[in-house]
Amino acid sequence: MFDAAKFIEASLPKLRAQAGEHDALIALSGGVDSSVAAALMNKAIGKHLKALLLDTGFMREGEPGQVKAMMKAAGITVEVRDVSGEFFAALKGLSDAEEKRKAFRETFYNIFGRETKNFKCEYLVQGTIAPDWIETEGGIKSQHNILEQIGIDTKTKFGFRLIEPLAQLYKDQVRLLGKELGLPDEVYSRQPFPGPGLMVRCIGEVREDTVAELRKSVAIVEKHVTNADAQQYFAAIFESKGKDAMNIAEQASHLFNDRCSAYLHEAKATGVKGDLRFYGQLVGLKLGKRHPISELSKKQLDIVIKNEVVCRVLVKILSQHTSRGQKLPYSVAIRAIRTRDFMTATVSEIEWARLEAMAKEILAACPHVWRVYYDVTPKPPATVEFE
Ligand code: XMP
Repeated sequence: MFDAAKFIEASLPKLRAQAGEHDALIALSGGVDSSVAAALMNKAIGKHLKALLLDTGFMREGEPGQVKAMMKAAGITVEVRDVSGEFFAALKGLSDAEEKRKAFRETFYNIFGRETKNFKCEYLVQGTIAPDWIETEGGIKSQHNILEQIGIDTKTKFGFRLIEPLAQLYKDQVRLLGKELGLPDEVYSRQPFPGPGLMVRCIGEVREDTVAELRKSVAIVEKHVTNADAQQYFAAIFESKGKDAMNIAEQASHLFNDRCSAYLHEAKATGVKGDLRFYGQLVGLKLGKRHPISELSKKQLDIVIKNEVVCRVLVKILSQHTSRGQKLPYSVAIRAIRTRDFMTATVSEIEWARLEAMAKEILAACPHVWRVYYDVTPKPPATVEFE
């Protein structure tokens, strides 16, 4: 059983010895991990800790300001830097998930190389936790914050050394630690938000206009879904481009004993097949009836197994068209999952009435969105995020 008080007692002298007389800069995102790492480090080295939040352009509505206020209440002063222009420039023309993640990582740490110099800090502190490096080493996806574990020498490449005080912990332990450190409940109970933020929820090439519609969709999902329904809940956006897939429609009709059509999107997402990374397409099903989510999320596996190109199964909630009855260019998927350690996850059984209310609001707020789906794929064969 994890004992947070003992962990703190053992960590403080180690962290003080590691930092020595040097100053350290914490890379804050406002997520649970970096906030808890900041509080622990603050306890260890006090005024030698500086805090910086990079506004990458991929944060949620109002998030930079909220994080600044939240950390201020926890006794940590955070500077916010808008560097969104640099990120959009670095990602231009990239649509492959791993290429995007690597470009994000490069830009992120080049900026922190510059900023550690600016702040006269020898160390960069970050909230890396165990699943981050386990999944990266396992080749599933390159989490943005994994550097030394994959042989990147940060001192030579970026000019700072790293301190990762939570690197051996899992999310539930990090939350207990946050509580023990006296952080407000709203900080340590927040749902996780990935470092690359909305970039991994904007499938394929990121564009400022699609990120804007995604940001609205994420805010709508966060308004309707609660921590009681799911450990993580959000929306993702992708192009509507694709084609009808008669073979999948037939399989699904048989599987669900219902009239079904299937649309194979060109957009690709990250998943896991047989312990290995799999980068496959999204299939959107339109069913005649509202089936229980438990049934959909159980039977989807048959479709993923039988169709080599398919990575995830999405079920249509609602749609809208242009005044001429044409398809709009983007589609949105709502995702809500239950998990303890984020290494595996099941799909939350959100009632259809609530899914419909969310979809209706998303369609009203996002004039370029054709369909709103619910992602009924557990992890595995999907991952939590889409990229
Ligand atoms: P996946 O998508 O790998 O997500 O099933 C598991 C958990 O990790 C979060 N995640 C990330 N967090 N940097 C982070 O700080 C990343 O690059 C990253 N990718 C995924 C994800 O939101 C989920 O909580």
